[in-house]
Amino acid sequence: MASIPVGILGATGMVGQQFIALLANHPWFKVEYLGASERSAGKAFTEAAAWRLASRLPDDVAKRVVEQAAPGNAPKLVFSGLDSSVAGEIEAQFAQAGHIVVSNSKNYRMFDTVPLLIPEVNGDHLKLLECQQTAHGWKGRIVTNPNCATIVLALALAPLRQFGLTTTMITTLQAISGAGYPGVPSWDILGNIIPYIGGGEEEKIETETKKILGSLGAGRVDHHPVKLSATTTRVPVQNGHTGSISVGLEQKPPSAALIEAWNAFRGKPQALELPSAPPQPIVYVTEQNRPQPILDVDRGGGMTVTVGRLRPCPLFDYKFVALGHNTIRGAAGAAILNAELMHREGLL
Ligand SMILES: NC(=O)c1ccc[n+]([C@@H]2O[C@H](COP(=O)([O-])OP(=O)(O)OC[C@H]3O[C@@H](n4cnc5c(N)ncnc54)[C@H](OP(=O)(O)O)[C@@H]3O)[C@@H](O)[C@H]2O)c1
Repeated sequence: MASIPVGILGATGMVGQQFIALLANHPWFKVEYLGASERSAGKAFTEAAAWRLASRLPDDVAKRVVEQAAPGNAPKLVFSGLDSSVAGEIEAQFAQAGHIVVSNSKNYRMFDTVPLLIPEVNGDHLKLLECQQTAHGWKGRIVTNPNCATIVLALALAPLRQFGLTTTMITTLQAISGAGYPGVPSWDILGNIIPYIGGGEEEKIETETKKILGSLGAGRVDHHPVKLSATTTRVPVQNGHTGSISVGLEQKPPSAALIEAWNAFRGKPQALELPSAPPQPIVYVTEQNRPQPILDVDRGGGMTVTVGRLRPCPLFDYKFVALGHNTIRGAAGAAILNAELMHREGLL
């Protein structure tokens, strides 16, 4: 029986709706607050936003009145899918008022005392929270999950650190749902590829990955030294960010060792059997024409990253393809898994 009340900031958006869908039957968390802009405030959810997911909009959420996102009526734990142009200010207001903000937005990800979390990879970075109050004066806390393309890359790279990961080059093929709703005009994206994603997408991948793969230092993370170069593109795919990735590895392991490292990779969520944890966070597929968004994006309820096409790289050591669901593992599902870990570690 769900007993922990939660709020969703940005509830009407792409990520907000994914939160609603994923929390519909959650064993611990129950949605009791919806926050969005003044455009939506005062309206029942169904009047404020069109439901854009295949799953059914829960009746209690459909009728719930959306409030202007501001501290006051919200439960202590709030998930944020706020537009990044407003997330900085609003999330800080919630943290100042004593809320635990589990955020998708980019605004606080690179702050020294803010965990940038993938629970399977760096759950220990939650220890940064011990220094957050002193650094920011917040009564509450902010925890973030990575950019939606970063999370696919960082999960695929995490098991390769043991081989002495030195270099990574990635070119992404990112889904239109990553741009929110209505996102990229159909005139621009249908039958097309756009070789640029705004908002500093490439820089986010290059900086966030090093923090996630880094090790916990004194009040901050010592970033991983991997040299990283990213090119990001938008493609006419509905859901699922794909990355074509090359890596340099000091130890020159055989390809079977990489495949074993991916398939055997597990973390705290699996050990603790967290409700949103996929049994296997990374699955290597052997078919030459996989992973494909249509066939593989929903693996593990959208929480598993699918890797395939491992082969030698003439420039570095190996190249491969990785795919993950951008609004589940790359956004709402990631934040819910973060909150589940925090609950089990007594941090809520
Ligand atoms: N889509 C993805 O795959 C993805 C993945 C990872 C992270 N993210 C990040 O998650 C966040 C949300 O992305 P999205 O794709 O869901 O965007 P979106 O569909 O455009 O939704 C934005 C949300 O922010 C709310 N909002 C906008 N201005 C506001 C204001 N002044 N005050 C309060 N609320 C306001 C909107 O409410 P109204 O409906 O009332 O305007 C809406 O609920 C962004 O920071 C994005 O970078 C997205």
